[in-house]
Parts: sequence; C-alpha cells; structure tokens
Amino acid sequence: YNPENHIYVIFGASGDLTKRKLVPALYALFVQKMLPEKFVLLGVSRSDFSDDEFRNRMKEAIIKYKEIDDESQIDKFVKKLFYTPISFDDEIHYKNLLNKIKSLREEFGTNGNTIFYLSTPPNVYGIIPQRLTSVGLNKQDDGWKRLIIEKPFGYDLESAIKLKDLLLKDWTEEQIYRIDHYLGKETVQNLLVTRFSNGIFEPLWNRNYIHHIEITSAESIGVEKRGGYYESSGALRDMVQNHLLQVVGLTAMEPPSSLEASAIRNEILKVFQSLRPFKKDEIKNNTIRGQYTSSKIKGEVVKGYRQEEGVNPESQTETYAALKFYIDNWRWGGVPFYIRTGKRLPTRVTEVVIHFKETPHFLFAKHQMNNSCNMLIIRIQPDEGILLKFGMKTPGAGFEVQNVNMDFHYSDLTNQRIPPAYERLLHDTMKGDSTLFARTDEVLEAWKFLTPVLECWKNDKNVPLLGYPAGTWGPEHADDLIEGDGRHWHYPC
Ligand code: BG6
Repeated sequence: YNPENHIYVIFGASGDLTKRKLVPALYALFVQKMLPEKFVLLGVSRSDFSDDEFRNRMKEAIIKYKEIDDESQIDKFVKKLFYTPISFDDEIHYKNLLNKIKSLREEFGTNGNTIFYLSTPPNVYGIIPQRLTSVGLNKQDDGWKRLIIEKPFGYDLESAIKLKDLLLKDWTEEQIYRIDHYLGKETVQNLLVTRFSNGIFEPLWNRNYIHHIEITSAESIGVEKRGGYYESSGALRDMVQNHLLQVVGLTAMEPPSSLEASAIRNEILKVFQSLRPFKKDEIKNNTIRGQYTSSKIKGEVVKGYRQEEGVNPESQTETYAALKFYIDNWRWGGVPFYIRTGKRLPTRVTEVVIHFKETPHFLFAKHQMNNSCNMLIIRIQPDEGILLKFGMKTPGAGFEVQNVNMDFHYSDLTNQRIPPAYERLLHDTMKGDSTLFARTDEVLEAWKFLTPVLECWKNDKNVPLLGYPAGTWGPEHADDLIEGDGRHWHYPC
C-alpha cells in the first residue's frame, strides 16, 4: 500500500549520498507509483541553491544514477522538489525551516507527517535533532515525525551510548530509523525466507549438522575519495560492526514469533548478546587486520592505501579485517564463525557459506571429496542467488564421487526487478516499518563485542597491521586463521 502523505526533508541535500542514492531511489518509487499522492521533498544543506538550481542538479543526478529505466517522468517528479539553505547549528535557521515546512504543508496538503533524513557528517547528529526539537518539529500531535540516520552510530561503545542518550532525550526509539543498507538488500532479506520457509534446511541449521560458517564481503575498489572518512573508521567500524554483524544476526537467529519488526529485531539482538566476548589474550589469534599496499593490477599500478587522497602516509587504519568467533547458545555451541571484509581484494562479492559436517563414516575414497563439498552458498551480491554443492557418483565403473552444483540465480527470474537497498528502505521509513533498521540495543551490543578488538588493535604490538598487495585476498596470514583449524576460505570465482 502507499504511505501516508508527508514531507521528506533531507539534510545534506547537496551531498553525494543524496545525489547517488536517495533521490534516484525516490524517483524510482515515484515511477512505480509507490509515493503518496501528496508528497514533497525538501532538500536542506549549507549550500545556497534556489529551488530550480536544486531541481536541475537532482535531474542530472537521476539521469546519471537512475535505478529504473524510465526518464519520462523526471520533469513531473522534480516539481515535487524544494530547497532551503541552512546552517546546521543556527537556531534562527530552524525557525525558517519550520516556516518553510508549514507553507509547503499548506500548499500541498501533506499534513504534519514529516521525515528528517540526516545525510550529514555524524558530528551534527547531536545538533540537528536538538534544533528540530527546539522548534517543535519532533512533536507528533499534528502527524508523525521520523528521524533517519546513517552510520556510524558512534565510534565505540562509549560514544555510541552518548549518541543514544542524545537522540533519545527528545525523540522516541520508534521515531528513529538507523539505516544499515545491507538490510535493504533483497538477498539479505531472503536469508529469512531461505531459513524459515524451507523444511529441507530448517532441521539442519544448527551445531549438529553445520561445521562452520563463513561470511565474506569483498570489494575490489579502494577507499576512492573517502580517505578522510575512512581514516577515522577502518574496516571493522565501516563494515563489520554493522553490515556483517547484521548478516550474522539473520544467519544465526532463532525463528521469530512473527514478522513484526520487534519480533525479528529481538531475535537478532539475542544473537548479538550471545557473541562470545573476546578475552584480551585471544584477540591476537582470532583477528587479522591488514592494509592494502601498492601493486600492479592488469598492468596498471594501483595506489596503496597510504598514498590515497586524505590518508595519513603513516596510517595504521585497517582496510581488511577478519575474525573468528563463537555464538554461545544452544543452536551454535562450538560452531566457529569466520568473517572477513576488505577493500582492494580481487573481486566484489558478498556471500554466506554454510559448511555442513561430513557423513559419520565415509565409504568412498577421501580424496574424492574436496573441501568445497556439502556447502550452501548464499550469494548476496553480485550475481545474487543460492548454490548448493554436494557429491555425486561419477558415471562409469566403481564409486567415484564428484562435486556438483545446484545453482539458482535471481537473474533467472525474468521480469523480476531486484529493488536496490535504498529504495526498499526509504519506502519502509514512509510506511513506518522499522524491521530492516538497526535498533539501539542491537547497535550497543555490536559495539560491546567489538570495542575490545578496537582497543587491542590500537597497539601494533598486540595485533600487527599486515600489508597485502592491492588485488589479492588480504594478508597471507589471514589463511592461518582458518587453516589452523584444517579449513580453507572459500574463494568465490
Ligand atoms: C558502506 C561502506 O557502508 O558500504 C563502504 O561505508 C562500502 O565503505 C559499502 O564500500 C559497501 O556497500 P555495498 O552495498 O557496495 O556492498
């Protein structure tokens, strides 16, 4: 169903995210008739644009980054766009903003329903919600008010608690939507369906039949123009604390009692609460941190991380992180989870690999079953799909076993468009569905688990920062993390 009429206010409207993701997603919703009849998008940022200048910029952005192959409605869509400049800290400007919102409400009949999307640097997360409160824009007496924020939700446990206290002073948890765009991915949501709609997998999904689980999120790009941001983040904060742990949550959670947001989020929270905390002396042997160095890829010299724009030439920031950990609960007792992520790896791929245990007594020659047998691979991106690998008799004499695949690709579902993450998530914010957004308690648990690792990594003597040539699968030492246990990383082809 279509969401209720409302105004969508984007703070940071002159920024990259607005241009690349948010506005193209809103346009795609418009084309699919998924926006309410009365809808206004109000762009807000420090730059001084007129409504028309803003519309022209967004028009160009839609043409460049459009997610839907239909340009015919752009002019009609941009008529819904308005702009007002603001200095994020200035109270007077929020009075102007309030007046602007009031006049748009009257002109377009959108009621008081309003969404505030903070697509801004995180250092203003404390300020904007407070200023909105000071002019009464958090009050819900004339319609709902929602606040959307992007990660990072703090830098460690302490700062995350501070941010939580700041936000929850004047806004309620139900009003706040923390975007984790991985949850907006169709294939990540499909983890729920694969697990809970298939009687064939459900009985196997536990320590009795699963040997270990691997989750990889590899990127072939480097930090590009985001060196400044990345320096204060690193792979653990940028990918593991949020995206990868959410994928762990959906892979490992108990069945929720319903599809209600709170039921699903409660189960994810329980997984995070069951993550076995690292003891200080365990971090060295169970985590790897790496940083890409310059190398030649397909004949071209690629910069090392330290040579990237905005990066300290002596930077200690990790661009690769791998962890081995356990979930201490009844379902997963004793099953190791291996997760890794990195920039400048050979390819872009995100996948969950479920390795099943061997049969109790193997009748056939051992060498015939290799490490890649009995695996369920959930490919989150690209080439979204599911691959089941198992052993089959090679036709002919004797009992030779060979590995075969049962392979499903989303692309085989002809005429089925996979909506990009932001499209789904923005629509959910309009409908008031918070299922696919991170809740405060989940965020804090994730930080609780990872803050000791971050602390330990501060000192190179504890866990050295290892170099890896751009275009390779991370530091060689990362193999030891898993091979020490007699296993191998699954290398996607
Ligand atoms: C973002 C990170 O959250 O996710 C980026 O900040 C990363 O560093 C990106 O590149 C990866 O997203 P995706 O959807 O391309 O896997």
